[in-house]
Amino acid sequence: MPKKIKRIGILTGGGDCPGLNAVIRAVTKSAIYGHDFEVWGVEDGYLGLIDNRMHPLTATLVSNILSQGGTILGSCNKANPFDFSIRQGDKISKRDVSDWVMRNVAARHLDALVVIGGDGTMAGAAMLIEKGLKIVGVPKTIDNDLAGTDVTFGFDTAVTTATDALDKVHTTASSHHRVMVVELMGRYAGWIALHAGIASGSDIILIPEIPFDLDAVADTCVRRSKYGKRFTIIAVAEGAKPVGGEMIVDHVDPTSPDPIRLGGVAKYVAEEVTRRTGLESRHIVLGHIQRGGTPSARDRLLGTLFGDGAVRLLAEGRYNRLVVQQAGEITSVPIAEIAGKVRTIQPDHALLAAARAVGTCFGEAIEV
Ligand code: F6P
Repeated sequence: MPKKIKRIGILTGGGDCPGLNAVIRAVTKSAIYGHDFEVWGVEDGYLGLIDNRMHPLTATLVSNILSQGGTILGSCNKANPFDFSIRQGDKISKRDVSDWVMRNVAARHLDALVVIGGDGTMAGAAMLIEKGLKIVGVPKTIDNDLAGTDVTFGFDTAVTTATDALDKVHTTASSHHRVMVVELMGRYAGWIALHAGIASGSDIILIPEIPFDLDAVADTCVRRSKYGKRFTIIAVAEGAKPVGGEMIVDHVDPTSPDPIRLGGVAKYVAEEVTRRTGLESRHIVLGHIQRGGTPSARDRLLGTLFGDGAVRLLAEGRYNRLVVQQAGEITSVPIAEIAGKVRTIQPDHALLAAARAVGTCFGEAIEV
């Protein structure tokens, strides 16, 4: 008979994301109301486990947070317990502090943890599981790039925000006959750009999965102006790269487990379009606005389903699994199976075919 759970911890790791509070609320209420578990909120993701910062959560404390963006627990995307950055003056050294985590979890009598995060957080969870922790994961990221699930919470809100931005730049684009290039987040996957690009009717969508040819992009802008469309909207994922080229890195953060910060591709594309065509171009980087604000109704629903699903797994003693959505159903997969894997857009994805059918250009080289 497995030991019955009395107390669980919950943490939010990695970048913030709309819907985190919906999950915290769902886990806390479902754990307290349905199973009589005690729930402790760990502050600032894995950092709180390392520093032993956590506090009890009650149904009252998580009441009225469903519609709030961000996370009431705080987050951190720099605290990998197995490769923790310790700064002394100008020097940064790395250290394995996972034993501190084990000690603090034991000292607080946490029987299991609900870890809400993306691939970096799940990679950490997989290693903590190997050390003996009982963990259930919840898939979070606006990037929608976590393996094992058809969708992550936060993605829908980010797509809605990105679509709104692309809709809005149509005004200036058409009034001033410009090419407007909007850079969207997503890291090494193009999900946000693909969805928002199609939803806004963007003319060109550039994603990491399809390297772009600048002559094809420029040619599309010119052809449009020739048949009377005197503007072009380009949705570009931050990880998009030219054929034979590399992703554009904005900066490297040595304190982060995932140190690469992408950025700059919209400026590059806008400048190249102007250089090649003479058309006036502007670029916009939407940035963290995509992670902010109140979660969409869909993300609140998904957050509630995932949170309740995570508690059900704990109650059934089915640890070390990630609650996921597959073909519309809430189910789960082993964390070890998905840790470190990125889900990108496959060439046969239905949205690519539909977008091409309505004339969207993906910047592919023109066949001669
Ligand atoms: O993973 C979420 C995300 O917003 C990515 O889309 C983006 O590349 C990255 O995080 C930005 O990270 P930071 O907030 O550390 O700049």
